[in-house]
Amino acid sequence: MTPKPFTHRDAVPYRPVDWTGQYPPAFPAGGVPNHVAVVMDGNGRWANRRGLTRVEGHRAGEAALLDVVAGAIQAGVKHLSVYAFSTENWSRSPDEVRFLMGFNRAVLHRRRDQLNEWGVRVRWAGRKPRLWGSVIKELQFAEQLTAENDVLTLTMCVNYGGRVELVDAMRSIADDVAAGRLRASAVSEKLIARRLYQPNMPDVDLFVRSSGEQRTSNFLLWESAYAEYVFLDTLWPDFTRVDLWDAIGRYLSRDRRFGGAVDSPDSSS
Ligand code: IPE
Ligand code: IPE
Ligand code: MG
Repeated sequence: MTPKPFTHRDAVPYRPVDWTGQYPPAFPAGGVPNHVAVVMDGNGRWANRRGLTRVEGHRAGEAALLDVVAGAIQAGVKHLSVYAFSTENWSRSPDEVRFLMGFNRAVLHRRRDQLNEWGVRVRWAGRKPRLWGSVIKELQFAEQLTAENDVLTLTMCVNYGGRVELVDAMRSIADDVAAGRLRASAVSEKLIARRLYQPNMPDVDLFVRSSGEQRTSNFLLWESAYAEYVFLDTLWPDFTRVDLWDAIGRYLSRDRRFGGAVDSPDSSS
């Protein structure tokens, strides 16, 4: 029997993370990426191909998000960061922007108890200016509600941009230097990382983007300096935990060298 997916119309029924009856492949111990970043892309195309308006694609993306969070927990991922609204997305039509604001607020409201039951700690990364106050309130409520959880940290990146995150960090450092609280020579990679929106966020190990686009679109620029990038063609509303596990499988086949090198001449040639 095909399990019934979440839909936005669900009255938030409790479901265990394995409600679909699917389980991840046996990944090697210690090999699962600690931090996975996901660009949830392709909603508009998914909807338009069905003769629907773009916002119907965003609606359909809610189920995909819940499924991927559950699949990340099953796989043992500890940090999942999802791109929900970029600082560039304000350039969309006023109707779409309005929908996305209200939708983000509603999803957080609707799903926070379920996420809490799963042991998910919700965090927000993004910029306050322009973001609707009611969305910020929902984000902060979810943060407080789930603050003690430690199964998985889900960072909702809402009104997030990698460059403005760095601008905000640089400004706070410059303020401290100008006020004599900090010496310029004390500015280090570690210090900059501590001034980002989520100072304790670890580096991204696996960066996944759905919908076939192969670009970062300004997502977690600093944090992804040594991430492995996996681009999948699936449009976000069709994306499931199986796609996440597929991306983890591809990640595991990569040779992460971090600038190092191993000399191993092929003796057969
Ligand atoms: C991603 O889907 C969701 C957001 C950016 C909020 P899109 O809305 O970008 O869908 P496409 O890429 O136009 O298909
Ligand atoms: C990135 O997708 C932002 C989110 C998924 C929230 P976009 O669809 O906005 O990015 P571009 O325009 O294709 O670069
Ligand atoms: Mg897009």
